[in-house]
Amino acid sequence: MTPVAKISEVPNFGKKQVSVSGRELLLINIKGAIYACENECPHQGSPLSAAVVKDGTISCPRHGYRFNLVDGSCSDHPEFALKTYPVQLSGDDILVDLD
Ligand code: FES
Repeated sequence: MTPVAKISEVPNFGKKQVSVSGRELLLINIKGAIYACENECPHQGSPLSAAVVKDGTISCPRHGYRFNLVDGSCSDHPEFALKTYPVQLSGDDILVDLD
């Protein structure tokens, strides 16, 4: 588990982009539950930092593919999956399993 940010740095219903070990991650806070995923859409590589998060999914701003925040699956286009990362919280620290 790697510390990547503080919970207080990710606003409720907001996102924070972080660079960790050469990877661009997106952290998402939904009522104190933190999710981590890669910041690049698996469809055609659009950044997801401007994506809309709703109902447990993140919608790519480019073509609207929606990915489940927990497992990265895309119900509309199952051939595409977003890489997601397990998250643990410790105090104000967000820890992400990068394996
Ligand atoms: S680039 Fe994300 S849906 Fe096409």
